[in-house]
Amino acid sequence: MRDTLYPDLAGRTVFITGGASGIGSAIVTRFCAQGANVGFVDIAEREAQGLIETIKKAGHHPPEFVEGDVRDLEVLARSIKAIRKRFGPISILVNNAAKDDRHTLEHITAEYWDDRFSLLVRPMFFAAQAVVADMRTRAGGSIINLGAADRPLQSSRAAYDAAKAAVHGLTKALSHELGKHAIRVNTVAPGWVLTDRQRELWLTENAAEELKTRQAMRREITPEDVANAVVFLASLDAEMISGQEIVVDGGYR
Ligand SMILES: NC(=O)c1ccc[n+]([C@@H]2O[C@H](COP(=O)([O-])OP(=O)(O)OC[C@H]3O[C@@H](n4cnc5c(N)ncnc54)[C@H](O)[C@@H]3O)[C@@H](O)[C@H]2O)c1
Repeated sequence: MRDTLYPDLAGRTVFITGGASGIGSAIVTRFCAQGANVGFVDIAEREAQGLIETIKKAGHHPPEFVEGDVRDLEVLARSIKAIRKRFGPISILVNNAAKDDRHTLEHITAEYWDDRFSLLVRPMFFAAQAVVADMRTRAGGSIINLGAADRPLQSSRAAYDAAKAAVHGLTKALSHELGKHAIRVNTVAPGWVLTDRQRELWLTENAAEELKTRQAMRREITPEDVANAVVFLASLDAEMISGQEIVVDGGYR
């Protein structure tokens, strides 16, 4: 993990969805290492507790965890309130929670479609709506939405891919609406990051081979590579960057 410090992030309140595992856990860790006050919501209690222990062992201020399902907007609102109460107004929001389950065309029902959007897009908007007033009291803020880079390796993901395509539309709309309050909104779009979940569920020999030939950079993309882009966008080093999609895919084509 890189250790670049952004002094303006120290003491800031950061709220992250889906922070317990995968890329989210690297984002939580990276903000804790910046001296930020980090709160995260996730359904994965065991992973969250493990992450908190690891961060404590590394000597950083531990994050605050709220167990909850972000598809439930009341739960999302309550978790944001809890973090605000604990650490003060939220300056940085990272909308990361997701699940890339596969679904063949004939198995997609209207309920399933709505459920995917209620996880992959809807909480992004309502979390942003809930933190705008906080960010205004802090004279600005940064919202980072996790999208997905174009990567035609996977099939059976119509609902996931449609929702991920919607993410950057939301980013652009919010960036225009909130720029007058010095709130920046950007998308970070990862390529294929081989988290434990990705390795267990989706990595096949063929896919690994194809990745090697199509990704320009030769090493695997790690969750930390994505977290690096997120903390940069949160920091004032990115003060005039808004409405952008930063693709972290190692030059995939
Ligand atoms: N890993 C990749 O290759 C990849 C590629 C492109 C985009 N992304 C995006 O990056 C982000 C992180 O990806 P990841 O691979 O770490 O995802 P992941 O599925 O491994 O982890 C997401 C986190 O969200 C949590 N979560 C899931 N459903 C939830 C719910 N209903 N309420 C609260 N928390 C919930 C999970 O417990 C987990 O901690 C996601 O937005 C994903 O779509 C990942």
